[in-house]
Amino acid sequence: MSTALQVSNLVKRFGGLVATNNLSFSLKEGESLGLIGPNGAGKTTVFSQIMGELRQNSGTIELFGDEISTLSTPQRIRAGVSRTYQIPRPFGEMSVAENIRVGLMPDNIWQMIVSPPDTRRERELALSVGFLKADLGRMPTELAMGDLRKLEMARTMATAPKVMLLDEVFAGLTTGEIAQISDLIQSMRKDGMTFLIVSHDLPALEPLIDRAIAIERGTMIAEGTFSEVMNDKAVQASYLGGV
Ligand SMILES: Nc1ncnc2c1ncn2[C@@H]1O[C@H](COP(=O)(O)OP(=O)(O)OP(=O)(O)O)[C@@H](O)[C@H]1O
Ligand SMILES: [Mg+2]
Repeated sequence: MSTALQVSNLVKRFGGLVATNNLSFSLKEGESLGLIGPNGAGKTTVFSQIMGELRQNSGTIELFGDEISTLSTPQRIRAGVSRTYQIPRPFGEMSVAENIRVGLMPDNIWQMIVSPPDTRRERELALSVGFLKADLGRMPTELAMGDLRKLEMARTMATAPKVMLLDEVFAGLTTGEIAQISDLIQSMRKDGMTFLIVSHDLPALEPLIDRAIAIERGTMIAEGTFSEVMNDKAVQASYLGGV
């Protein structure tokens, strides 16, 4: 199995704060890795660097063996990596279907205007995350958190990623919605998708991952199976310190 994502010696500083501290980890193709750590540990900052929304101070990020850490965000999306946002970020003036359309055509907003939309694919993606046909025309302002998270998933899937980064996909969801999104992730895992998943909901995370890493103040403090990481003394101390 080839390496899908390789993060090596990543460092990100915000002034005096070291948000990512010499972090290295890798994901094999088809693997699902959990990234855990208390609030402010630096999980989202890692995602932002992988996507190129934040530039690292040093270190490298490789996707299927190619260095991507100097590319723009759209170039990285084209290379096969895509993320969901912890705080959903739909285009407020666009319907559910149109938001998914942006994901289907990430390169060029003009492409969206001049080419006919692939409404069949939009519908397929919307239904696959649990929307109903009637939801396609709804506006983000009408959506509750569960639907906004579904829209994040659909928009991310629309870019045809090979590696998906999921940031707090379960936050604010009902038990039923968590089950729905979990089923979707499991079915994509069966189809070979590679995942890096951040979740504070550890019971929901456990069945979705092959391995986990834990970070505290940007530094990796444990790596192993879910239970190895959860039983690690440093991990337990970091969570106690975080509350
Ligand atoms: N753009 C920024 N400028 C300055 N500091 C930042 C910026 N983004 C994040 N930070 C700081 O970096 C640290 C890591 O933040 P980050 O959001 O990555 O943590 P997190 O693990 O995702 O936390 P949470 O679990 O609350 O989502 C925090 O101390 C945060 O305040
Ligand atoms: Mg975060």
